[in-house]
Amino acid sequence: MQREMTSELIKEILGKYPGTKDNLIKALHELQETNPLNYISPEIMEKCAAHFRLTKAQVYGVVTYYSMFSIKPRGKYHISLCKSPVCSMMGSENIFRYLEDKYGLLPDHVSDDGLFSLEKSECLGRCGKAPSMMINKDVYTGLTTDKIDEILLNLKSKPGK
Ligand code: FES
Repeated sequence: MQREMTSELIKEILGKYPGTKDNLIKALHELQETNPLNYISPEIMEKCAAHFRLTKAQVYGVVTYYSMFSIKPRGKYHISLCKSPVCSMMGSENIFRYLEDKYGLLPDHVSDDGLFSLEKSECLGRCGKAPSMMINKDVYTGLTTDKIDEILLNLKSKPGK
């Protein structure tokens, strides 16, 4: 099981950014990417507020405004599988079942090894090649169970963070 980021590491990363508001987004990106749980924790928000002289509510507002930030722990590879009508008709429900049955992946949970998390997403704009999903920033289309096996195996074999 992955652990929360240490206070020391949060401070070390913040130390690289001058405490002016225009650096907040860049710092949040690095903090989220470095966090083994791939999210912006309450402690990160608190330390950002102090560093950038903002209120906690202001930092929370920024984090929740941008969809690239998460306030919930996620796996190193966060899977957003489309649940919208076209993908659903083209088999994404089947893929959700497959991810649960074969990999134990359920929406809004992180796998025990910390590698994967799953969410049911809205349309990703790739309906023409449904079913579609994103893993972090990469888009995958025309999904089948075989293709899922290939993608996940490939990610599992990548060196760690
Ligand atoms: S409905 Fe799934 S990408 Fe549009």
